[in-house]
Amino acid sequence: MKALVLAGGKGTRLRPLTHTSAKQLVPVANKPVLFYGLEALRDAGVTEVGLIVGDTGAEFREAVGDGSAFGLRITYIHQQAPLGLAHCVLIAREFLADEPFIMYLGDNFLVGGITGLVDAFRAADCDAQILLTKVAEPQFYGVAELGPEGEIIGLEEKPEHPRSDLAIVGVYIFSPAIHRAVRAITPSARGELEITDAITWLIDHGSRIHSHLVSGYWKDTGRLQDMLECNRIVLEQVEPDVRGTVDRLSDVTGRVVIEPGAVVENSVLRGPIVIGADSKIISSYVGPFTSIGANCEVEDAEIEYSIVLDSSSVRGVSRIAHSLIGRNVEVSRATGLPNTHELMVGDHSRIQVRA
Ligand code: G1P
Repeated sequence: MKALVLAGGKGTRLRPLTHTSAKQLVPVANKPVLFYGLEALRDAGVTEVGLIVGDTGAEFREAVGDGSAFGLRITYIHQQAPLGLAHCVLIAREFLADEPFIMYLGDNFLVGGITGLVDAFRAADCDAQILLTKVAEPQFYGVAELGPEGEIIGLEEKPEHPRSDLAIVGVYIFSPAIHRAVRAITPSARGELEITDAITWLIDHGSRIHSHLVSGYWKDTGRLQDMLECNRIVLEQVEPDVRGTVDRLSDVTGRVVIEPGAVVENSVLRGPIVIGADSKIISSYVGPFTSIGANCEVEDAEIEYSIVLDSSSVRGVSRIAHSLIGRNVEVSRATGLPNTHELMVGDHSRIQVRA
């Protein structure tokens, strides 16, 4: 089965990172979110992927290439503007041809993979299979209302007053019937062709829709707290692997991955954490659920429950937590008087200082 992977969109909730980079390429445990999805598709037997990209297409071409590193063949499909998930199906018509396909949202993170879903779809003999999961804040998602037999009565996109707590997970399987549906619907109030409307159109035109409750962990990584939580979930499962150098003055416990070329001196590392290649951790504390990218420097600092991207430094600052620090960022201690915070931050940044 082919897959359509969606990696357009503006990622406004992850600004300022998404000013310069795609949200699907923000790393979780030092690996881009999108890569987890591509691996799950490959493990489910997919070989052909259509990757929908927008303004950040060049970045995807560099990170994913032709897909051979994943055992996939990637066809890039350019979306002029983020006009909705159903619009992605519309512009991928030729690539998808007349076969069923998986649609996978590139910012979705699903633990446990998707094997089994294709078999379930085939056995169900339906035009669409959607995954549902209970969430605390359904108003931020597509929401499904189920009847007494578990059948879908209605779907709504980000309703103000949700009729259930069942959110639509960003992994769908469609028969070619979806192509008529995406042509028939009109843009929603937010100006997008909604996939929820296309599925509703299918229901209204007599199609069978199969729904499947996801029991495992799922996150749409669109927001900071979701990224940090995914990072925690992945780190909880890493196998300790120290390939960098750790001096005798350092104390390393728990699930700790230290990539080649990384140096740890006079520091306390409490896993689960991952330290990227060629990074230096000097006289510092790195606490649980932290991913430090490659070529970073952490010196005389304390950091935990955070993600630091490549080539950034944190010096003389304690204590950083619940933070997402971009690439080539410098966080350091201000010295001398007056006793001030000195900031130079990009647009849409968020800083919380404990004064
Ligand atoms: C999209 C879908 C929504 C679904 C969500 C899952 O929302 O429109 O129905 O619940 O993905 O991640 P978006 O993230 O595009 O706002």
